[in-house]
This record gives sequence, structure tokens and C-alpha cells, in this order.
Amino acid sequence: MSYFEQIDPLKVPSHVAVIMDGNGRWAKSHGKERIFGHFNGVESVRATLKAAVKSGVKYLTLYAFSTENWNRPKEEVEALMNLLVHTITGEIDELDKNEVRLHAIGDIDSLPESCKTELHAAMERTSGNNKVNLILALSYSSRWEINQAVKRILAEGLKPEEISDHLISSYLCTAAFPDPELLIRTSGEKRISNFLLWQIAYSELYFTETHWPDFNEEEFYKAICDYQTRERRFGKTSEQIHTGMGINEKTT
Ligand code: FPP
Repeated sequence: MSYFEQIDPLKVPSHVAVIMDGNGRWAKSHGKERIFGHFNGVESVRATLKAAVKSGVKYLTLYAFSTENWNRPKEEVEALMNLLVHTITGEIDELDKNEVRLHAIGDIDSLPESCKTELHAAMERTSGNNKVNLILALSYSSRWEINQAVKRILAEGLKPEEISDHLISSYLCTAAFPDPELLIRTSGEKRISNFLLWQIAYSELYFTETHWPDFNEEEFYKAICDYQTRERRFGKTSEQIHTGMGINEKTT
């Protein structure tokens, strides 16, 4: 039975976040330059989005470019930005046709003009779609996001007693989205790399050895199946979860 057939439609996560990693190593293993890996990674983005739609995931967040990625060699940064513009331009009709709504989180102002223009046009054009939300994290890092949230909270003069989990969430770039239930990272590294630190407090983590350009629909379904085997306790005991006890008790 395929992994897709094993998915329980009643237990599909609404939000899946992905750290797409391993493009450079994949390219090297094929005797090519790193950018060859990024080019091939676009096909995995397509496959992952298709799999998200087919399995009923409503929000898919992809870590496409981190704040720290600006420190990569100039040629690689330029190639990644060009790839982003080219991909958005090339895919926008298909995204719109499939009712995908595009969003971007991160320091979007720091992106090159061409990138900002394409991104804003694509977000505007797809703003009425609601089959699935594709959220691109661009020039994003969680510490940057938390810094800008704290600055805005202070600038607006909020009082200590007004601070709560809910309020902090509402000042993050992801304010409009639910927290991810599942975080996937490809290529064998087991770290979070400054991605959605606040939002993944209770996410299930899934690591695969597969490099991003080899990640495909079936790999996504496999991750969903693995997620569906997890018992999500939110600090409670297994017994409380199974008997429905302690629903109103505080989680730790
Ligand atoms: C990580 O692999 C990948 C990136 C930093 C870029 C991801 C970009 C894409 C998949 C292409 C375009 C994406 C969109 C959304 C259009 P790495 O370079 O860190 O690989 P390594 O760890 O093997 O060096």
C-alpha cells in the first residue's frame, strides 16, 4: 500500500513547515555546482505543494532563504534570487489556477527590487484563493522576527499585563496562520536553524536523510503517516489524552 493510501484523512495536519536542505550536497554528489541543486529543488517544491493539496494540508511553509543565507557567496545569493523571481513568474498561472494563495514571511524589504515586485504581484493576484496557503520564508529568521515583534510591542506602549502567548503570536509574521503541527527537515541534519522557534513549541519533528532535490510526493506522504503515529500530549499524560481528562488544565 502506498503512503498516500495509508493517510488517515481525519488526522491530517493543517500546517506543515519544511526546512528544505541538502541542495548543495545533492549537486556535489552529481558532480555539479551548488546552484544545480537549487534548480532541481524547484521540482521538489512543486511535488510538495501538490502532495499538500492532495492530502488536505491547508498551510505549507517553506524555508527558502534565511537571514543567514545572505552570508553565502555573492554568486549563489544572486542565483537564488534570480531563481526565485523566475520560479514565481513561471508558476504564477498554475498556482492561481489551482487556487493556491501565496504569502511571504521575513524581511521582504531586504530582497532585490525584482524579487519584491514579482512577489507582491503574485500575492496580490492570488489573494482571493483559499485551497491551500503557500508561505515562503524569505530573508527570514526566527530571532529577527522576534526582535521586530518586541520592538513593535514596546513602540506601541503595551503594558506587561497585556503580554500573553496570544499577543506575542499576533506580532509575529505568522499571525494569520495556525502553528505548524509538523516540521519536516530534509538531508539528515537534526537542527532547527532559526526557523519558527516560537511557532514550533509543540510541533512534531520529522527528519529524513533524503536531500531536498530527491524529496517527492511519496516522501511527503511518508512524513504525514509518521506524524499520524505520534501521540500529541501537550504536556499532559497519555492517560489524560485517551480519557479526555484534564482538558482545562494548564499545559507545561
Ligand atoms: C538548502 O540547501 C536550500 C536553500 C538555502 C535554498 C532553497 C531553495 C530552493 C529549493 C529553490 C527555490 C525555492 C522556491 C520556493 C522557488 P543547501 O544549499 O543549504 O544545501 P547543503 O546543506 O547541502 O549545502
